[in-house]
Amino acid sequence: MLDTNRIPEHVAVIMDGNGRWAKNRGLPRLAGHNAGMKSMIEVVRRANDLGMKHLTVYAFSTENWKRSVEEVSGIFKLLIRYVESELKELMDNNVRIRILGDYSPLPPDARKAVDKAIANTAGNTGLQFNIALNYGGRAEILRAVRELAEEAADGDLAPEEITEEMISERLYTGARETGCGDPELIIRTSGEERLSNFLLWQCAYSEFVFTDVLWPDFSPEEFEKCIEKYQKRDRRFGGR
Ligand code: IPE
Ligand code: IPE
Ligand code: MG
Repeated sequence: MLDTNRIPEHVAVIMDGNGRWAKNRGLPRLAGHNAGMKSMIEVVRRANDLGMKHLTVYAFSTENWKRSVEEVSGIFKLLIRYVESELKELMDNNVRIRILGDYSPLPPDARKAVDKAIANTAGNTGLQFNIALNYGGRAEILRAVRELAEEAADGDLAPEEITEEMISERLYTGARETGCGDPELIIRTSGEERLSNFLLWQCAYSEFVFTDVLWPDFSPEEFEKCIEKYQKRDRRFGGR
């Protein structure tokens, strides 16, 4: 049974398996991404109902540009469509949207839809829904390192003064951006057991739950099962 009094504050999800789901049905890959958006909306709803503070989803990686132009632009079109159709419900449910990653290379209409969702939901205090878009863990760490190197080059910072906290602060999960910090739990669907450049710094002590379910088949009940597994784990952080 899920212990609703012990819901992790921050859960991150690698939403994988849309393409295989479509292939299994003889459908185009974009039909899988469309079905995946529907799963995402249901999971957001459940996370909010459970009183979770932060839900972070991996929607598009810095490596996903390697896919066909057709697939990439289709994914962004779906993003626009769902952001627009769901914005009212997000507002009604007090959900706040924020982005992890540099979404400036996205097509202008996708950028505009994202900006609008961020601005409209900025005052909401319920679930913080963080979307990793054109996100890569290495790019994120590089960005933080460059910022610190600039401060050092300007003579404002001595290298030995750099702390782990200073790096954490400069990541998308830091207080200056989403403020979600490190996830207690990272879920990956579709049977793949790798991070694919997701939250590399932040996952140091995260618990991992892998499930064979393909993302479009991932239901709120599956989501709760993953949290239940997490609740049975013994987190030690290197202590005894
Ligand atoms: C995850 O599903 C969605 C994105 C990466 C955008 P995939 O599209 O990776 O699905 P598979 O892994 O090919 O089944
Ligand atoms: C990771 O999935 C990225 C997202 C879910 C957005 P991929 O399908 O891109 O990862 P690989 O290629 O299997 O490692
Ligand atoms: Mg995949």
